[in-house]
Amino acid sequence: MNPITIDHLTKRYAGFTLDDVSLTIPTGYITGFVGANGAGKTTTIKAALGMVRPDSGSVTTWDKARIGVVLDTPPFNPQWRIGDMIKALAAFYPVWSGDVLAEQLDRGGIRADHMVKDLSRGMGMRLQMGLALAHAPDLLILDEPTSGLDPLGRSELRDDLAEFITDERHAVWFSTHITSDLERLADNLVIISRGQIIADGPLDEVRAGFVKAQGTPDQLTSHLRRIAHGLVETAVGWEALVAGSDATQLSASIVCSEPTIEEIVVAVAKEAHHD
Ligand SMILES: Nc1ncnc2c1ncn2[C@@H]1O[C@H](COP(=O)(O)OP(=O)(O)OP(=O)(O)O)[C@@H](O)[C@H]1O
Ligand SMILES: [Mg+2]
Repeated sequence: MNPITIDHLTKRYAGFTLDDVSLTIPTGYITGFVGANGAGKTTTIKAALGMVRPDSGSVTTWDKARIGVVLDTPPFNPQWRIGDMIKALAAFYPVWSGDVLAEQLDRGGIRADHMVKDLSRGMGMRLQMGLALAHAPDLLILDEPTSGLDPLGRSELRDDLAEFITDERHAVWFSTHITSDLERLADNLVIISRGQIIADGPLDEVRAGFVKAQGTPDQLTSHLRRIAHGLVETAVGWEALVAGSDATQLSASIVCSEPTIEEIVVAVAKEAHHD
């Protein structure tokens, strides 16, 4: 059984629909999840965790006891004292590694007598990461775990995830806006735009699904405009991404190259913004 299987999931909010999302998170890999602000990443993650109730479709996951979670906002009562909170949480789990947690707290400069409300954003992330790892999960789900961390913290978190996935029974699913973290860590990539999954697969295949095309103004035909994603025009030329399947339609004189993940994410987001 896959760690997570999302099947035709739809969730409607006023002004936003998470639209018929199907997705599996496989064992043994790190899956990155990207998309513009408001594209539906957190909603998808929360639906997978049963924190958002879908209008239709279904989600199956491993037992919750096997899942460690880092949410974009720490789900802790601001008035809690860290030491008390840890004691209370530890009692819930059959396995609890105080050492693993202590290492994360130490790196974050978090003390037992700190109160939740006094933690910085990065400290809150660290605390969540420590709590997630302490009960020895097989699946880690992280919503923008690196966003509040300084460069050292991000590097340490990448190391933690890389070490976690060396156990082939483990799986990681994390959302991010930091595409360099994806390039370094992710085996698989899911791209979401306006509530719809627009790419899903091994990172290299997703990248190969797009071609970066550049040309002169006279080469920019109306047909090309229709198949172009994230078109940028200047007086001397243009640049756009074209789906790999459409690339055969490009004239031989158009310069083609492989886009970066960043370029793909930007092109997709720009398109969603203009429509
Ligand atoms: N409880 C809710 N009630 C109404 N609308 C909601 C609710 N939760 C999310 N939304 C809407 O759903 C859309 C997707 O939000 P979501 O938080 O999933 O995006 P995201 O991809 O995580 O964005 P970001 O990168 O900014 O974290 C947004 O338009 C948001 O306003
Ligand atoms: Mg979010």
